[in-house]
Amino acid sequence: MRSSNYITMYDLGEGFLYTTGRVVDAQRIGQRFCRLKLRLGRDLGEVSPFQFVMAGLPGEFEIPLTVSMYNREKLILDLFFKVREYSTEKLCGSIKYISLRGFYGKNRLNLVIGDKVLYITEDLGFSSLPLLISWIKKNSKVLDVIMVFENESEIFEVAKLIDMDFSGRIVQCIRSDLEERLDLVTKSTTSNTWKTILAAGGRELLKKACELAYELGAEGVIAPYTRIKCGIGACGYCIIPRTKYLLCVDGPIFKCSELASYLGLEHGD
Ligand code: FES
Repeated sequence: MRSSNYITMYDLGEGFLYTTGRVVDAQRIGQRFCRLKLRLGRDLGEVSPFQFVMAGLPGEFEIPLTVSMYNREKLILDLFFKVREYSTEKLCGSIKYISLRGFYGKNRLNLVIGDKVLYITEDLGFSSLPLLISWIKKNSKVLDVIMVFENESEIFEVAKLIDMDFSGRIVQCIRSDLEERLDLVTKSTTSNTWKTILAAGGRELLKKACELAYELGAEGVIAPYTRIKCGIGACGYCIIPRTKYLLCVDGPIFKCSELASYLGLEHGD
């Protein structure tokens, strides 16, 4: 155990890294989202898109938050999340320090095949976009994105989340228009160029994304939402219903076929 002037750090071995994050910026994005920039007391290691940290607020339960971006040299961690309840409200503005442990989840980006990817995502999945785009660029792939919002009042300017060059297309829509959007996507001339349909969200959206992937003959890769408590495979809280998988250690991304029973898909393993 070592300590600095404001930070206490613990290293309990690989995968059990703890540190303190000092909030350097907290911005409300649109009506419902928040972008938080933290300076960490120590490096938490390599991170890949969809991996997450457990964030602890003084006097509150820990919250799992997907990493939005991480600069290892400067130890700056970006988190982006939906403000839903008291803890996230508190996290977005009235807090100076939080405890962090991670990074958790596997790097399973080898599931993303081909050079053109379509990412369909709703609220919690927005967080992954900056890191995903930087991975896509590094791997010379192209990404198109459909961002699905609960309603029009939640829509925000994409530049508030993604402040880097990006050559793909981004479409924003509300949930009630998704069916129509996907229909247009399926009929578009570019639809057969996507080799992977990637999606993050609730069961209904993931099911639609997997069906689309099946229809287009693409690989379907999904990041489901579940509740997370320990993040390290110890409590069983994050089990994905009707499967053998724990999201925190087996995920956070899966092939559609691995979660066929959870989604109620006819085509699975
Ligand atoms: S959150 Fe405890 S096992 Fe995954």
